Amino acid sequence: MRQPRTATIVVGGWFGDEGKGKVVSYISLNDRYEHIARAGVGTNAGHTVCMNGRKYGLRMVPSGFTNPGAKLYIGKGVLVNPAVLLKEIEECDIQERFYVDSLCPAIEQRHIDVDNSSHYKEGIGSTGTGCGPAQLERVKRSKEMKFAKDIEELKPYLADVSELLLKALAGGEKVLVEMTQGTMLSLYGFEIDGELTYYNATSKDTTAGSACADVGIGPAHVKDVIAVYKARPSRVGSGIFPGELPKEEQERLRSEGKGEYGTVTRRPRRLGEWTPEVFRLAKKTADMNGATQIAVTKIDMVYDGNKGERNYRGLTGDARSFIEKLENELDLPVTLIGTGEDVFDIVDRR
Ligand code: IMP
Ligand code: MG
Repeated sequence: MRQPRTATIVVGGWFGDEGKGKVVSYISLNDRYEHIARAGVGTNAGHTVCMNGRKYGLRMVPSGFTNPGAKLYIGKGVLVNPAVLLKEIEECDIQERFYVDSLCPAIEQRHIDVDNSSHYKEGIGSTGTGCGPAQLERVKRSKEMKFAKDIEELKPYLADVSELLLKALAGGEKVLVEMTQGTMLSLYGFEIDGELTYYNATSKDTTAGSACADVGIGPAHVKDVIAVYKARPSRVGSGIFPGELPKEEQERLRSEGKGEYGTVTRRPRRLGEWTPEVFRLAKKTADMNGATQIAVTKIDMVYDGNKGERNYRGLTGDARSFIEKLENELDLPVTLIGTGEDVFDIVDRR
């Protein structure tokens, strides 16, 4: 039997916060995805989605909830915080079309407490959301671990997500898988100039391959992998950050309103630029994910005069030069270019 190839994965190419939420919310709506599944670590992720003048900061619910026709899922690779999840289900009003895998491990207060102790908080620079300690408990195969199926309030939403997605794929329906964090935050890490990213990595691998496992589908179901990068590279938290701008330059950008703050932690994000090393690493992360397309977000934040533009020819010359350079260096088409906050502020060249 030939496997149906109707799945798409959106994955972060850098240190997270590339704007995946924006890309997912746009293509979910525009391409009319029928099924949207959240992969990734857990509540350490924060995705910002702006639609009809409303801003959502999501940590659990898939960013593709913007498409009212789509069924929404969280795969069993993902750690869930029941309180955060229940609040978001209500805020997004998705009770009728949301499924969480019964076997998603539950983050508890004790995990959050440990994540706020010095090894995690200061040493790793974690988000303090309990993900690392919950992951550790899962790997221990501890009898203490609770799962979504053990949480009374989650009962109406429990499902075998893998089974539902495989059935959808077999029926030729379109599945979008939303990965979180970014490839450079993978637990498996990178060695850069003799230094390891491992010490400040997140608690599992963050590539498209893992995204498949998280939601219970296979690599052969995937038609496209869209790797997302930001026009202004950023990193929140400590650790190696290739291309980081000098502190004064970062301060200047912040004072001009071009700064960024973490969706979950509100920490100021460290700001960088596209140096030759960044291009080289970006090529590597795109290829590790088997990317077939590239999305670039927030072009309007770096190149003036592009806000809200929806036409490639309407972009300024400097913005187009950057896109062309990226296409040459990565040897992949840049198909989506974010030009503003709203879901539809995007240039779609597909
Ligand atoms: P943890 O995942 O909370 O254990 O944090 C480990 C590292 O990954 C820290 O540097 C975090 O700032 C970073 N991190 C985890 N999730 C995200 C994310 O969604 N966006 C950006 N950074 C993240
Ligand atoms: Mg984020």
